[in-house]
Amino acid sequence: MLKDDNRREMLEKVLKDHNYQKSALLEILHGAQEIYGFLDKELLTEISGLLNLPPSQVYGVATFYSFFNLRKPGEHIITACLGTACYVKGIEQIMTAIEEEFHLKRGGSTKDGKLSLFQTRCIGACAMAPNISIDDVIIGKATKEETIKHIKQILGEDKTETI
Ligand code: FES
Repeated sequence: MLKDDNRREMLEKVLKDHNYQKSALLEILHGAQEIYGFLDKELLTEISGLLNLPPSQVYGVATFYSFFNLRKPGEHIITACLGTACYVKGIEQIMTAIEEEFHLKRGGSTKDGKLSLFQTRCIGACAMAPNISIDDVIIGKATKEETIKHIKQILGEDKTETI
């Protein structure tokens, strides 16, 4: 994966921009995720080699922060806000409904690779809680029914009119 295209060059530029500083690991991981879309084991191992850091340290940082994707995301990305306001307003039930309806777990993807479900912290739109985004479009005051309907529409399973 790392040598087949110009993304490897882009990754090296990110490292160069940070002078290969071990202390810039977090910024470098951000840069790598922007380039590749996710940080899998192969990429983390590569970064640990380039920074001369133990793989366990690089992996530890990548797994600590929820904003890093450790697996290739699906074609469509659902991100639920699990901040306090959204939690109180029922985002947990919406996430559970999505997991049951589409047979996936949070942090993972459907078997066909069409849908991924992630969670994040407060996105700064608490007045509209609960918030969930579908391919970067935020749905405020989300309900289970509407969210599942939206997802079915983007998957092409529901041909009724979009909202
Ligand atoms: S807690 Fe969800 S937007 Fe603030």
